[in-house]
Amino acid sequence: MKAKLEEIRLEALHALEGLDELDKLEEFRLKYLGKKGALTQVLRGMGGLPAEERPIVGQIANEVRNQLESELEQKTKDLKEAALTRRLEAEKIDVTVPGERPGLGRLHPVTTVLNELKDIFLGMGFDVAEGPEIEYDYYNFEALNLPKNHPARDTQDTFYIDNTILLRTHTSPVQIRTMEKQKPPIKIICPGRVYRSDEVDATHSPIFHQIEGLVVDKGITMGDLKGVLDVFAKAVFGPETKTKLRPHHFPFTEPSAEVDVSCAICKGAGCRVCSYTGWIEILGAGMVHPRVLEYVNIDPNEYSGFAFGMGLDRIVNIKYGIDDIRLLFENDIRFLKQF
Ligand code: PHE
Repeated sequence: MKAKLEEIRLEALHALEGLDELDKLEEFRLKYLGKKGALTQVLRGMGGLPAEERPIVGQIANEVRNQLESELEQKTKDLKEAALTRRLEAEKIDVTVPGERPGLGRLHPVTTVLNELKDIFLGMGFDVAEGPEIEYDYYNFEALNLPKNHPARDTQDTFYIDNTILLRTHTSPVQIRTMEKQKPPIKIICPGRVYRSDEVDATHSPIFHQIEGLVVDKGITMGDLKGVLDVFAKAVFGPETKTKLRPHHFPFTEPSAEVDVSCAICKGAGCRVCSYTGWIEILGAGMVHPRVLEYVNIDPNEYSGFAFGMGLDRIVNIKYGIDDIRLLFENDIRFLKQF
């Protein structure tokens, strides 16, 4: 039996020496020191020994057990240390490696152009006014001389919250809200998002941006309108830019006009951007309809005014030569990085 114990000792020590993975240590413990392990097996057979030999064999067995346990403990420690060293080595941070710069953000082209336009109008003495995007039918249509069932409502179909509340189809309701609160002289622009129930394509989006302008005072004429728009167009599209007013109809202005600017790309010669006409339509305008002034208790015999409304996205597209309005709303970084 002593020989058997020696054999176990040698075999176990040899096996332990060859182990190089922490996971394998438990297997080792079970095999030699566990309840069903080699050592226990030998001790079980002790009953068959003569009484005087038992203590001696018992002592050797204990010795073997102690030795194996302490060797196992040492091995565990060594392997754990080695694993830690390997991990530290792998996770080592080289603080001298140059850092990665976070990408610098930039303004969306719509914001950039809006800031530019605001500057131009602030320079002419306009204030900036804002209004809600979720608007009453009254402000969006009714008070702008577009009563229920007016056929011109069809051109501005929108998203209704209920019968009286909708997503505004233009920035013109801010005219009414401003004139309700403030008496002339009034000189404001109102930029903001507007909504229409339009099918999405290269030139239509159910959400887009407008800038409204409104001037009300004594003796305001169509000449003032033309002058302001001329200064504006030259500032945005260059000093040679010409403006042209074409008669049009809006229920809230009378007379009304659509305003074209000479094409900044071809200087009027005709190109793809202006559909070979030399002109680009950029806004609607006119003299504030007397009925609109009456709605907000401003006396049309005493005061007159002009208003205009332009699509901001369209101006962005013309300025940058962008041919699809969807690009402005998709937030594709590859596109936005170019500005
Ligand atoms: N609100 C009009 C539109 O969205 C534009 C406009 C504004 C026309 C002010 C005249 C005066 O089509």
